[in-house]
Amino acid sequence: MTPTSKGFADRLTASTTGHSRISGIGGYRPRRVVPNSEIVDRIDSSDEWIRERSGIIERRWAGEGESVIDMSVFAATPALEMAGISGADVDAVIVATVSWPYQTPAAAPLVAERLGSKGAAFDISAACAGYCHGINLASDMVRTGSAAHVLVVGVERLSDFTSKDDRGTAFIFADGAGAAVVSASDTPGIGPTVWGSDGAQWEVISQTDSWIDVHEKDLGWPHIGMAGQTVFRWAVWGMAPVAQKALDAAGITADQLDAFIPHQANVRIVDAMAKQLKLPADLPIARDIAYTGNTSAASIPLAMERMVRHGEIPSGGLALQIGFGAGLSYAAQVVVIP
Ligand code: UT7
Repeated sequence: MTPTSKGFADRLTASTTGHSRISGIGGYRPRRVVPNSEIVDRIDSSDEWIRERSGIIERRWAGEGESVIDMSVFAATPALEMAGISGADVDAVIVATVSWPYQTPAAAPLVAERLGSKGAAFDISAACAGYCHGINLASDMVRTGSAAHVLVVGVERLSDFTSKDDRGTAFIFADGAGAAVVSASDTPGIGPTVWGSDGAQWEVISQTDSWIDVHEKDLGWPHIGMAGQTVFRWAVWGMAPVAQKALDAAGITADQLDAFIPHQANVRIVDAMAKQLKLPADLPIARDIAYTGNTSAASIPLAMERMVRHGEIPSGGLALQIGFGAGLSYAAQVVVIP
């Protein structure tokens, strides 16, 4: 080994020994509350059916002054405050979203700019699993020394990409933003991530037409379509084993958890996963979907923010979180609650 490569090896070894944790969490829910009664006529449905089949009572749709950027900033502000840092301290901003309406550039640089950060800024597209992908990236960035504080935002304005006439999605998708700050830590705060994809099922949740087809065939504004039953079965039978692997990777068992915060896709999926994981009956489980709908990348941080704000889960306790959706893609990890 040359002296140069020894120095390189020493430096890398020294910089990969750190820990990471979530130091702040924040959320933003758009002002406009949309009850089931506003949706049912156009899709020949009923309040009872939607509640029973999805658990949703109402959701939020964004309006003026509530763009993807606005909502990201509104969610990030309390997260930074809780972390005790300002935007200028943020070394990187990762925005997980599928509803930022520009092909390029990404939303993240604008979010960084609004918050006063000159750090790295980029978006990731992993749909409902995007936030947990972001937490994994942020954790590795902090642990390897390329950042001291990373802001991870999950944000969606899915109402822009949902057909109000589509029976399979009109009642499910909604808008909002959640944000977490991932910071360097003396103790471990983010467990190993279990993640993966199944591209063979690429089409089961997807934009109806490519931008090129929309343009060349004059197809009109596209929306997100979903083969609901197929996704439901995959989520119920495929995701509990992934969540179990995340527990195993963190070296804990279900009875050591203080919270279960899965992606808010459907309350029946949440309940089925809890049953398969044999979670203790008194464990706090996120059911934010009832009043928030399915906000894709935003759903996990929004649900955690509500539970923290209401004092339902203890700071310093352990939460199992799992995101899953279009791709198909998924990611799960155990985190220490901020
Ligand atoms: O976030 C990304 C991941 N997404 C998910 O994980 C979502 C997964 N999928 C789901 O949550 C569920 O599939 C839905 C909530 C979307 C739909 O529930 P479902 O129980 O799978 O409904 P279904 O499509 O099997 O339809 C059951 C029945 C059918 O009637 P028949 O054939 O039994 O008479 C449908 O025609 O319900 C009918 N139906 C509706 N009725 C009233 C389907 N959609 C509606 C509707 N309102 N909107």
